[in-house]
Amino acid sequence: MTIQWFPGHMTRARRQIQDKLKLIDVVIELLDARLPLSSRNPMIDEILQGKPRLIVLNKADLADSAITKQWVDFFKKEGHIVVVIDASTGQGTKEIPMLAKVLLKEKIDKQIAKGINPRAVRALIVGIPNVGKSTLINRLAGRNIAITGDRPGVTKGQQWIKVGTEMELLDTPGILWPKFEDQNVGYKLAVTGAIKHEILNVEDVAFFAVKYLSQFYWEQLKERYDLKEQPTNFEIPDEVVGIMEDIGRKRGCIISGGRVDLEKTSSLFLRELRAGKMGSYSMESPLY
Ligand code: G4P
Repeated sequence: MTIQWFPGHMTRARRQIQDKLKLIDVVIELLDARLPLSSRNPMIDEILQGKPRLIVLNKADLADSAITKQWVDFFKKEGHIVVVIDASTGQGTKEIPMLAKVLLKEKIDKQIAKGINPRAVRALIVGIPNVGKSTLINRLAGRNIAITGDRPGVTKGQQWIKVGTEMELLDTPGILWPKFEDQNVGYKLAVTGAIKHEILNVEDVAFFAVKYLSQFYWEQLKERYDLKEQPTNFEIPDEVVGIMEDIGRKRGCIISGGRVDLEKTSSLFLRELRAGKMGSYSMESPLY
């Protein structure tokens, strides 16, 4: 799903999330493990107004696990509790209700001290389009999907999903917009498929990806397309275009006169990359 965000949409999205914040105890902020900062909403701190938050790095199966570890340390240093998951298989997701409770420990302990039996933790999943919100909701809901019915203040049609006995989840996630101002962010989101690359020029997106992968994942790229030499200077566009042409030739993307069809090569390359043919990779690291 691609949403074209305009200021009006952003205001509405923000208002919808802030209405839901009144109903919940904990926010589950879903980020793409391959690009946790670029898949983060630029105004998230302001929007959440101090609501306790669990950082969840999703699509870990597609990300470079060594870099994901760096991100875990990065978020921990920021003072967050963070969990790494693959919502498509459910890997790591079982920890979420327990960690949501850890976030509320002080409040829960006070209730217990007063003799109050704490109720299930109420949570809301938020994140940019395509980050895996619906997949995670379905995964947490599992087969025992038990809808607990409408509650006062909940928009009509919005329901609570029971996640075991410890957590209740609002069934509609909060949809946030990514950071559009930074062109590199746009490219990273397009490379991973978070935004449709039709919005950006396909050759530019592929160029961005080939340049990045030649620099940081050369062995994977080389193996996939049987390439010869790693560029020595990534700032020279011709060196990167040379790699793209090599890929095009290997895949038979040739136009009359024997020239490489760069547009066709770019589409093919991005399709293969998104289909996981190059193996796992991350698009950003906290260290560079
Ligand atoms: P959203 O609600 O945040 O918009 O995202 P959604 O759950 O619809 O997930 C977007 C795509 O990402 C889906 O692929 C989904 O299967 C995939 N996905 C979600 N979590 C994971 C994960 O942990 N690992 C992997 N590998 N994929 C995940 P899709 O329906 O096939 O869409 P598309 O790939 O055709 O765009």
